[in-house]
Amino acid sequence: MKIYRHFMDGIPWYLAKHYWWAYLWSKSVWFFDHQPIINAILFFQYRKLMQATLTRFNSAEKQRVLQLTCVYGSLTPNLCQALEQQSLHITDAADIQLQLAHSKCRTSALLATRMNAEQLGYQDDTFQTIVLFFLLHEMPHEARINTLSECMRVLADDGSLIITEYAPLPKHHWLYRFPPFRWILTTLEPFLESFWHEDIEHMLNQNASEHKKEATSISQQKIFHDFYRVSEYSIKSSKH
Ligand SMILES: C[S@@+](CC[C@H](N)C(=O)[O-])C[C@H]1O[C@@H](n2cnc3c(N)ncnc32)[C@H](O)[C@@H]1O
Repeated sequence: MKIYRHFMDGIPWYLAKHYWWAYLWSKSVWFFDHQPIINAILFFQYRKLMQATLTRFNSAEKQRVLQLTCVYGSLTPNLCQALEQQSLHITDAADIQLQLAHSKCRTSALLATRMNAEQLGYQDDTFQTIVLFFLLHEMPHEARINTLSECMRVLADDGSLIITEYAPLPKHHWLYRFPPFRWILTTLEPFLESFWHEDIEHMLNQNASEHKKEATSISQQKIFHDFYRVSEYSIKSSKH
C-alpha cells in the first residue's frame, strides 16, 4: 500500500508522493513548524533568508500581495505585519497548511484560498507583488514552468516577483562538494538537482509574450556563499 495515496485529495501528484511526510501529515506539520528544525533544514540561514526577503518586500508595492504557498516559521506573520492595513492573500494546495498560516495571523490579516499554484483562480493583473519562498525547487520542471507562467499572468504592470530559493548549481560550495551532504539533500529534495540547472529569468520570459509582459532581474542577493539567493524581478507590460 502506497502511503502517499492517502494524501492525494486534490493535491498535486508530486506533492503527495514526495512531500506528504513534510507538508500533509498532521504530525509532521506539528514537528516541522519549530524554529530549531526550520533553522537546521536551511543550514542555520533562516533568519538571514527571511530578513533579506522582508527587505525586498518592504520596498515593493503592497496594495495587493500574494504569498504563493504557505511556509513553516514566521514569514507569513511578518508579511502580515508589514502590510498593516491590507490583507495578505495566501494560496496553497493543502488545507492543513492554510489552517496553520491562519493560526499565526489575525483573521482579517489573511485571505487564504486553496488552489494549485499551477492554475490560479485569480484574474490577470491582480497582484502588485508575489512572494515565492522555497517553492520552485520542490516542483518538477513542468510544474515550475506552469507556476511561473501563472505569476506572470496575475502580476500587474510594474509588479514585483520576490523569489527566495536555492541559487544556481553551487559547484564550489563545500556542501555541494561533500558527497554525503549532496546525497542527503538531493534524496530529500528530489527536484532540487533539476532546479539547480534552471534559468528562472528565462523561464519567466518563456511565456511572457502570451501575457504581454516582460520580467527583468533587479536584485540578486547571495546568501550563505551563494548557496541561496533572494531575487527580485520587475514585471512590465509590453503592450505599450
Ligand atoms: C513553499 S513550499 C516550502 C517551504 C519551506 N520548505 C518552508 O516551509 O519554509 C511548501 C508549501 O508549498 C505547497 N505546495 C507545493 N506545491 C504546490 C502547488 N502546486 N500548489 C499549491 N501549493 C503547493 C505545499 O502544500 C506546502 O505548504
